[in-house]
Amino acid sequence: MDTVLITGAGSGLGKELALQYAAVGNKVVLVGRSSDKLLEVNEMINKSGGDATCYAVDVSNITKVEEVISNVLNKHSVSFLINNAGVGHFGSLSSLSNLHIEEMVRSNILGTIGMTKALLPHLLTLKHAKVMNIISTAGLKGKVNESVYVASKFAIRGFTESLVKELEGSTVSVTAVYMGGMNTPFWDNAKTHIKEKSRLRSPEEIAAVIINEYHGQPEIFI
Ligand SMILES: NC(=O)c1ccc[n+]([C@@H]2O[C@H](COP(=O)([O-])OP(=O)(O)OC[C@H]3O[C@@H](n4cnc5c(N)ncnc54)[C@H](OP(=O)(O)O)[C@@H]3O)[C@@H](O)[C@H]2O)c1
Repeated sequence: MDTVLITGAGSGLGKELALQYAAVGNKVVLVGRSSDKLLEVNEMINKSGGDATCYAVDVSNITKVEEVISNVLNKHSVSFLINNAGVGHFGSLSSLSNLHIEEMVRSNILGTIGMTKALLPHLLTLKHAKVMNIISTAGLKGKVNESVYVASKFAIRGFTESLVKELEGSTVSVTAVYMGGMNTPFWDNAKTHIKEKSRLRSPEEIAAVIINEYHGQPEIFI
């Protein structure tokens, strides 16, 4: 069994991955920006007999991430990192605010890179360890009104593919996950871009596919 650290675990796919990994006996360490959401998931897991703890941190702040990971590692030997936290803002490039552009670049790119860098030295001391980066089909091809979001996901695709090569022969396996749209709070501020999010696949279903189909391979397409 693993100790799984999941970023963005307060809602959507991260929450489902946490519930489902905990339900099959893994310890879960929940990380995200909003403590209220994390505490709710934490309580759901612990009340149903699972083992969860949570830490609130903005993953786009690399220095804070290093501090939090050092605290986490004092208590939990994390063996599986899932970089899932992410944000999306949509529309033509000129319509995007600089704040939203920065948020996507910082959360999606720096968040994943900083979290991985902070945990990797520890993961490399273990017999087997895993890093999984939740990307999107936005990491595979360009899309209208998604330029910066797509750019952030292409960056993580490049980061992941390079780490797979860098860590070949080590005890750490690295995986990129590419999935289409999911019915999560992700789309709540993008109602003109996705009008009917209820038509998308549920995060429960995608989490179950990830858990069932993941065997340390470098890529999963859902
Ligand atoms: N929904 C889709 O259609 C879809 C499709 C493909 C891929 N994805 C990807 O799947 C991942 C999960 O998204 P989701 O659909 O489950 O959306 P979600 O429900 O909005 O979940 C994203 C989570 O990430 C957290 N987060 C965002 N920025 C953060 C930061 N800087 N620091 C810490 N936590 C942060 C959010 O916490 P707060 O709410 O507290 O900020 C939220 O709990 C994302 O990487 C997304 O790009 C989504």
